[in-house]
Amino acid sequence: MDKFVIRGGNPLVGTIRVSGAKNAALPAMAAAILTDEPVILENIPDVRDIETERKLLVSMGAEVELGYGRAHHRTTISCRSLINPEAAYEVVKTMRASTLVLGPLVARMKRARVSMPGGCAIGARPIDLHIKGLEKLGVTITQEHGYIEASAERLRGGHIIFDKITVTGTEDLMMAATLAEGETVMENCAREPEVSDLAGLLNKMGACITGAGTAKIRIQGVSTLHGARHRIIPDRIEAGTFVIAAALTGGDLIVSNCEPTHLGALLEKLQKCGVKIASNGESVRVVAPASLRAADISTEEYPGFPTDMQAQYMALATQAEGSSVITENIFENRFMHAQELARMGANIRVEGSRALVRGKTPLSGAAVQCSDLRASASLVIAALVAEGETILDRVYHIDRGYERIEEKLRGVGAQIRRIGEILPKKAAAPVGVA
Ligand code: UD1
Repeated sequence: MDKFVIRGGNPLVGTIRVSGAKNAALPAMAAAILTDEPVILENIPDVRDIETERKLLVSMGAEVELGYGRAHHRTTISCRSLINPEAAYEVVKTMRASTLVLGPLVARMKRARVSMPGGCAIGARPIDLHIKGLEKLGVTITQEHGYIEASAERLRGGHIIFDKITVTGTEDLMMAATLAEGETVMENCAREPEVSDLAGLLNKMGACITGAGTAKIRIQGVSTLHGARHRIIPDRIEAGTFVIAAALTGGDLIVSNCEPTHLGALLEKLQKCGVKIASNGESVRVVAPASLRAADISTEEYPGFPTDMQAQYMALATQAEGSSVITENIFENRFMHAQELARMGANIRVEGSRALVRGKTPLSGAAVQCSDLRASASLVIAALVAEGETILDRVYHIDRGYERIEEKLRGVGAQIRRIGEILPKKAAAPVGVA
């Protein structure tokens, strides 16, 4: 199992490039199920979850070429001859977003068998809203032996009002409704940029979707979709992680190839902490202040402060002067990083969905452990300001969603290296053609 060895103390200086958004690429790959023509996706991040999704699609009979290189990170997916509309437990348990294939499979193949996701490190995360929505579209659902079995001769348009805002739920049902007969209206939808990006791809494939990015989405069903080429949006969470790392380490960093408008809530909050931010079309320059000021955050659905940035912000709060209250409203158990940060010297008290961080406390390098993707990112950036050496275990969590984070951080001055199993170097030549 790989580990990171990180020596703190260096400010991040220079330019760091953001990869494509994992959370936009995963639904886009699932959307390829909806057509028998090839779908070409560019700006695909080279992260573990993408490889998991590739394997999932291949297990269904899809042909997936995935190539990474200097000029493009691209995948071409052809679902011409799907034979096995199933997402097995072994896949779903490692990546919950596998459930995104449920809607597209039943819409295209009339049936689907998808494992129920089990418990999750950050909370219960049921998929009841996906199921309820599909039933509204005329899908018959049964649950047996830990699997959801879905079937429908043809989906029919329906009126779906989500009880709670769900990102992948909105995406799953939007995909299913593209091939339904008649109009679907979905209300209380997620407004995340990844939802709009998916709608953009689906419309290029011949779907008829309006309102994505607002709470009300309308989909006029069509009988078939065709192939398309689409460029995935930049990863706003990876960008935000680098922005925080720069602010925390006393750096002066340009975060390039990002979409600053997707970072609104975070950048606004950091300005309250005293961080100087300047953004242009596709980059953000972050200049850290001599001393950071504490500020409270409360996670919300987009365009509010993202839950996926909460852990990284907590690392920052340990170095701000004063007390910060961090309220987590989306997931019920998303403070696992607090204990590990405390082991490094942070003063954090967790009470239910709130954490009180008292700063500024010096951090010292320690042996710490990743518990989930974003928690791992928070430990990496805390280690960048800790005195001495931090050894971070279970970095497979971070590899799920950050493309070679250690190489990127090293490029802007961090002292971080990977130890453990020697991974085969992923070269420019296409890999994983199946
Ligand atoms: C997506 C993101 C994840 C992010 C999260 C919230 C992807 C691949 N993942 O996850 O990185 O942290 O949004 O921004 O895009 N819920 C239900 N029933 C459902 C579905 C959700 O109760 O059927 C609840 C969840 O338990 C959670 C809340 O709704 O409390 C939001 O979850 P949701 O938006 O669905 O998260 P994901 O789409 O799984």
